[in-house]
Amino acid sequence: MDDSLKNVLLNNTRCKNIVSPSILSADFANLQSEIKKTEIFGASWCHIDVMDGHFVPNITIGVPVVKSLNNKVKSKLDVHLMIENPDKYIPDFISAGADIITFHIEAADDKAKQCIEIIKEANILAGIAIKPKTPVSAVEKYINLVDMILVMTVEPGFSGQKFMPDAAEKIKEVRAIASGNLIIQVDGGINNETAKICADYGANCFVAGNYVYKNPDMKSAIESLLSA
Ligand code: DX5
Ligand code: ZN
Repeated sequence: MDDSLKNVLLNNTRCKNIVSPSILSADFANLQSEIKKTEIFGASWCHIDVMDGHFVPNITIGVPVVKSLNNKVKSKLDVHLMIENPDKYIPDFISAGADIITFHIEAADDKAKQCIEIIKEANILAGIAIKPKTPVSAVEKYINLVDMILVMTVEPGFSGQKFMPDAAEKIKEVRAIASGNLIIQVDGGINNETAKICADYGANCFVAGNYVYKNPDMKSAIESLLSA
């Protein structure tokens, strides 16, 4: 991906960080208007948690929802795949209009390189996620091939869980071995305080479900993440 396209995707000319509210905590009956509310307050990505009931003990949403949102919201569609066999389903999410696709290294086995290639060929952003107990060494050899590393700070599966400080410490390790352009996304239990910790470690992209969508003051919530 060339730098100009990346800048557009990141919207990084105006804000310090990218904010990607997780629609898992939104009102699914009014998804489009829910996402638009976050855009008004400065969120530029929309985090879509795809769960298959195998890789994680929960089932959420999939390709049809991404397809429905495509071109209906301004936010970049940030798809977090918590599914087994990601290589098999990535092409469907590309066709549906995903702008960023992140798969889990724990689910990809020996197909991680193949997953990255499929995503990059589509000229969208590629990310790899690691669960709280997965060491950074598991993704080290792919760091220069992807646009983003997602450090999970809860066990994937549900929104509204408690932030795991030990998992967040891995952000420092990722930042130390990454090139300047790498986006480090953090996901799980993020609020104004935990985002600040992660930003100090080197994260610059914040996923937040409950903190944004269940917050009576969504504006301040998003602003605190943009400037963490
Ligand atoms: C958890 C998901 C998260 C979740 C975050 O498996 O990947 O994106 O929705 O929710 P909060 O911010 O409420 O922890
Ligand atoms: Zn997520």
